[in-house]
Amino acid sequence: MYEDKIRETERLIEQQNEWRSRCINLIASENVMSRRARAHAGSDFAHRYAEGHPGERYYRGTSFIDTIENTLKSNLKMLFECTHSEVRPISGTNANEAVFSRLINHNNPVMVNSTPGGGHISHHKIGSVGKFTKNIIDFPITADGYHIDVDKTKDLIHAVKPALIVFGKSLFLFPEPVRELADVCVENKANIVYDAAHVLGLIAGKQFQSPLEEGAHLVTASTHKTFFGSQRGLVLSNVDSAFWRKIDRGAFPGSSSNHHLNTLAQLAICTYEVMEFGQQYARDVIANAKALAEALDKQGFDVGAKEFGYTESHQVAVNVNKFNGGEEVSINLEMNDIVLNMNLLPHEPLRNATHPDGIRIGVQEMTRFGMGKQEMEKIAELMKECVIDKKNVKEEVNRFRSAFQDVKYSFDSQAGS
Ligand SMILES: Cc1ncc(COP(=O)(O)O)c(C=O)c1O
Repeated sequence: MYEDKIRETERLIEQQNEWRSRCINLIASENVMSRRARAHAGSDFAHRYAEGHPGERYYRGTSFIDTIENTLKSNLKMLFECTHSEVRPISGTNANEAVFSRLINHNNPVMVNSTPGGGHISHHKIGSVGKFTKNIIDFPITADGYHIDVDKTKDLIHAVKPALIVFGKSLFLFPEPVRELADVCVENKANIVYDAAHVLGLIAGKQFQSPLEEGAHLVTASTHKTFFGSQRGLVLSNVDSAFWRKIDRGAFPGSSSNHHLNTLAQLAICTYEVMEFGQQYARDVIANAKALAEALDKQGFDVGAKEFGYTESHQVAVNVNKFNGGEEVSINLEMNDIVLNMNLLPHEPLRNATHPDGIRIGVQEMTRFGMGKQEMEKIAELMKECVIDKKNVKEEVNRFRSAFQDVKYSFDSQAGS
């Protein structure tokens, strides 16, 4: 009875696979897995449960996932030089919930990056933080909009004595002043969480700041943006075991029950790829982001943070107000198979969220397909032809992308076909 419907769904999945392989994908929060990691999406683990910790499960039948999970946790501790790793949150938001639910008591003051300043929805009043407190204070930012104002923030921490400081954001061009603010946080008994959802792969590759070493108590993250893993979340820390026990309970049963064992096993494979190729990958991603920013600037775009060298991460922010704003520009680009998202920029009010001035670009996925500086210049040229000259560049985009189909920084070539 549903045969037609199933076939239609299968067709849509195939169309998605085929279409995205023709696109220049520049969404800053996405990436692709290697062929070897992706192949395990359909393993038996996709059907199983394993609540609890390896060796202490509430379910039977978990011996293989126990070994995989233990090894993954050890590898992450080695990679990030920390004593605790929690891998059960099934997304970055679940990781944040695990932490926020244990560290924020009713209506405690909490400091975060504002939404126009790049903060993630889970840090705000309609997201996870907002479930535990309404007392949410935005960091003061500097005139360029992309940096926290350290002196003003120090004064504010002394004045309001926040229980929690949340660094990290979704529009994330430069490192956060963790080291600069760590002492004043300790003095005022504020815990520091660093949300590394976007930059986890750059931290793993040692090309961005090291938040734990600089003074953060906890790092939360997604595992599928610059860290090119399966879609999951994690928490890392060096806190004492009493503190860590609270986070452990926050992860399970606080914010998850079953922890999606198939994607966990895939993450174990992806983490080996990061261990082997992560440093070179992170270096290449940042070099590509800088190259694309410079090329877009030369092509006539208003690229953010020029006076600071545009970016030190995988992202580039562009003000496209003079081309009718981020919504129209992102739609036009998508019609030409260049996929990215519209984004609020730091100078904008929150009410602009659906019609913002900005677009946000991430180069981490195209870097993984092997693109370098020359290709970044080509992407800038295609974007200029599409957005400024109003030309149709779809065929050219598809032709250009066809040469970049294999996932690099992986062990795929050793797997046979
Ligand atoms: C800073 C930040 N934190 C958390 C998240 C949420 O991650 P997830 O989508 O894995 O729940 C995101 C998502 O993009 C993010 O940008």
